[in-house]
Order: sequence, then C-alpha cells, then structure tokens
Amino acid sequence: MVNIIRTENYQELSKHAADIIQATIENKPDCVLGLATGGTPIGTYQQLIDRFREGKIDFSKVTTFNLDEYYGLSSDHEQSYHFFMFEQLFRHINVPPERVHIPFGLPEDIETHCQYYEQVIQDAGGIDLQILGIGENGHIGFNEPGPSLQTGTHLVPLSQETIRANSRYFASIQEVPKKAITMGIRTIFQARRIVLLASGANKAAMIRRLLDDNITTEVPATLLKLHPDLTILVDQEAGSEI
Ligand code: F6R
Repeated sequence: MVNIIRTENYQELSKHAADIIQATIENKPDCVLGLATGGTPIGTYQQLIDRFREGKIDFSKVTTFNLDEYYGLSSDHEQSYHFFMFEQLFRHINVPPERVHIPFGLPEDIETHCQYYEQVIQDAGGIDLQILGIGENGHIGFNEPGPSLQTGTHLVPLSQETIRANSRYFASIQEVPKKAITMGIRTIFQARRIVLLASGANKAAMIRRLLDDNITTEVPATLLKLHPDLTILVDQEAGSEI
C-alpha cells in the first residue's frame, strides 16, 4: 500500500523524514539505513545532525548503505557521493565509519565490487529503511528509464537528463561522470520499508505519474507501487498534481 504524506514545505518535509528515521533507530538501535544523496535529503540530514547534537539520536550501532556513486571519481573527490555524505551527514554524527557503506567509484573489478556490495548488505541483515529521492525522469537510485532494468548493484550509463540535472553541482556539464554504480531494483526492493522524498514543482509531474501510470521500466519509479511498505513524502509543490 502507498502511504502519501503531504507537508507544507521543504522544512516540514525534512522534519517528517527525520522523524521517521529517528523512530526507526529508536525501535531498533542497530538498524540498517539505506541513504540517498542529491539536494532533496540535505534538509533531513541537517535535522538528524541537530537532533544528534541535542542528544536525541544515537547512531553508534546504526549501519548505512548508500544507493549510488559516480563511476570514476575517487572517494575524496569533492563531487563524489562519498564526499557528499561525509560533508552533509556522517562527519557530524557518531555513526562508526566502518559501518558506513558507499559503492566505491574506482573499483579494480566492477563485477566483483557490485557482488561484494550486495553481499555486505545481506550480511548486515538487509536494509530496514531505504530513503529515496526521485529523478525528474523517474529514476530511483540511478536506475534510469529503459526497456529493462538490472536487478542487483551494477554499473549504469547515466541518461542525458540526469547528466544535465546533476551538472548544477559541477563547474561544467562536461565534468559530470557519464556512468555510476547503483543499487538495482531488487536491492532497493529488499528494503523492508521505503520512504521516497520529493520536493519542488519540478517533481510534481513525476509524482503524479508514479501514482497514475501503469508499471513500466520506462518510468522506474512506477515499480515502487509493488513494494509492500512505501511512504511518499511530498511538499506542497511536489504534491500539486495529485
Ligand atoms: C541520489 C539518487 C538519485 C536522486 C535523484 C533526485 O543518491 O540516487 O536518484 O535521489 O536524482 O535528486 P535531487 O534530490 O537532487 O533532486
């Protein structure tokens, strides 16, 4: 069943998402969180940092897995998702670095690395709560629209829309990596709970399509309707077409 939560604005959306994450950790201090990068969860991460500083959340037993990483960027590259996650969240809270997992952008052997990533998720007991953003083209993680989707963690060419959308973080569009390593649809679906965050008018059409369209790999987000525990958190703008 899809549970839709409408919030007034980005601040409220971020607070609500942080409430869900906080409750998950309170119920299960050694929970496994699946995390996203991008602009949308930054407010949520700021909320988590504030609550950690106020002594309200303890991350010391939490394990995290990120959805994706640019292929070809080292972990200390400023545009890497590794760098992003440490700047936006991890270095401000008490999650032990050895419990943090992010696909590595420069693996020696891509197949081996992807299999390893799947295995570590399994070994950790699977993901309890997966936070997702949504691409304007309907991608989740970096599972881009297409005639078929891969199931497990894999290397994927980024679509032109994604390269354009993400170029806002780079000096020029030429610098945006053309490929990424992403959890696959099966990896994401194995999470026991999924919470998708959408903020802003540019996400409104895709939120409507997620809910109204038939399920198709041409709009990967439509597949989420098959998940037994999906929550969609929207602000007023992202929810304006539903
Ligand atoms: C990020 C990710 C992507 C983003 C999506 C939305 O780890 O997997 O699917 O969630 O591209 O990005 P923003 O939040 O920047 O609009």
